[in-house]
Amino acid sequence: MMRQRSAFDFNVDNAWQVFAQTRKPEGRDPEKLRLMKIELQKAIEKYRKAALKDFPDYFINKKMPKDFLTERKFSNNLPNVSPRQWYSSLERMRAHQLKQAFEDSLSGLKMPQTDNNLIITDVGSRSNFFGSLMGHENKNQKWQLIDIKDYGLPARAEAKGLFQQIEPFSELPKSDIITLNSVMHHVGEDEKPLGQYDDKKISLFLKKIHNALPEDGLVVVTEDYVGKNKVEEPYNNFIKGVDSLFYPDSLGNQKPVKEWIDFFRNSGFTLEKELYPVHFNVVGFPVVESCLVFRKNNMEGN
Ligand SMILES: C[S@@+](CC[C@H](N)C(=O)[O-])C[C@H]1O[C@@H](n2cnc3c(N)ncnc32)[C@H](O)[C@@H]1O
Repeated sequence: MMRQRSAFDFNVDNAWQVFAQTRKPEGRDPEKLRLMKIELQKAIEKYRKAALKDFPDYFINKKMPKDFLTERKFSNNLPNVSPRQWYSSLERMRAHQLKQAFEDSLSGLKMPQTDNNLIITDVGSRSNFFGSLMGHENKNQKWQLIDIKDYGLPARAEAKGLFQQIEPFSELPKSDIITLNSVMHHVGEDEKPLGQYDDKKISLFLKKIHNALPEDGLVVVTEDYVGKNKVEEPYNNFIKGVDSLFYPDSLGNQKPVKEWIDFFRNSGFTLEKELYPVHFNVVGFPVVESCLVFRKNNMEGN
């Protein structure tokens, strides 16, 4: 009988696929790649065991393990792969997860009306992998990538010319749809010491998002899921979560879904859809994100 594939197998294959893609052609010698795949599988097994040890502490005793393994640290188990290469592979993998979440979020919704190609802006684009992947695959859409920092463009030639660095809270380019992936809980971080936030900045940021959209414009938001009505302590998903990839030193300004929805409602948006996709990280742990789609309201009379 055929063994059923587990989430773990899936992630080894996935991780391998994205990793192999990032190798330069001269590094794609089949025998070397075969050996590296074995190395990767062994490292994932080892890491998974270590992570499993942390799990009871975290989920049952609700204690933060002293030295939990982030995916970034995982690269130490791969002698032939630099942390930078591994990190870049993870960001690529994340781009594919975001693509799926974006398409599922918009499916069945009325698109903003325009005579031209839809203009879609990924705000907080960081590595730019997501936006350049989308721009590459959807020639009938115009993708723009915006961030307050320039983390360096990926090798993908298509990303050239799409990225623009802006000052925090400046006006955004006109867009039919805006995506905010794992951005909301970092808003204001550039101005205050890490870990301190001013919620007024969230409203200011949402005003800029509102200004950039037409009357029927959409915003697609993904956030770490940390609870529906209140933040569950400790954050259920953070430990092996998506964000541990990016900011292992700061959890950011995490809020329950209800509060994010309230911020958008108070800033002139209506919730059109909410989804809770489960993403598996490299070692196969489930991480829940919330995907919220908002439509701009007509603010007249508000
Ligand atoms: C956790 S990263 C998310 C990267 C990517 N969107 C993803 O989901 O993989 C958050 C990004 O938001 C950016 N950011 C924070 N505050 C911002 C602001 N006020 N305007 C635009 N981008 C901002 C940060 O520079 C960072 O690149």
